[in-house]
Amino acid sequence: MNVFEILDHEHQLIGPALKVAQSCALRMGQPGAAADPVGQELVGFCEKFVSQCHQVKEFNLYIRLLQKGRSYVIAPIASLHAEHSRLAQLTESLGAAWRLATEGQPGAGELVAGYLTDYAALMEAHILKEERFYRVTDSILGGSDHAELKATFDRLDEAALGADGHARYCQWVYQLAGAPG
Ligand SMILES: [Fe+2]
Ligand SMILES: [Fe+2]
Repeated sequence: MNVFEILDHEHQLIGPALKVAQSCALRMGQPGAAADPVGQELVGFCEKFVSQCHQVKEFNLYIRLLQKGRSYVIAPIASLHAEHSRLAQLTESLGAAWRLATEGQPGAGELVAGYLTDYAALMEAHILKEERFYRVTDSILGGSDHAELKATFDRLDEAALGADGHARYCQWVYQLAGAPG
């Protein structure tokens, strides 16, 4: 897979996870919802797979390389960057509210539901924008850039998720989506 295929593959995993986020949001606030293992895994997926890996690959690695040596900002990088910042804030708030909900804090479940709903809506629009952006920037990188980025992506996944962490999240999403893993 080249870097676009890797990022697209990860978007294909985030999509079904967002559907889970929406159904988790509907359950939150009900008795026992905070102990839901699917919700627990979903919060970890947003924090680790998306924030610490997927978005770092996109911005700190891929987009930084695209911008290298250019004095102007390639559109629409500024708006993608602002969305990443907002998604990072929502992820942090989601994680904090989830931990309060697991401790039985009154109202924390509703907070989790609100953050999950906002996160899913923003991420869905963000992914559509990124997919257009990747199609447009596809020709800018050369073969050696792809090879270098892919190796860096692999190292990042291993450092953040452990040796089989990426595969484990793939499996989790495939099971949730009822697709063959
Ligand atoms: Fe992104
Ligand atoms: Fe993305």
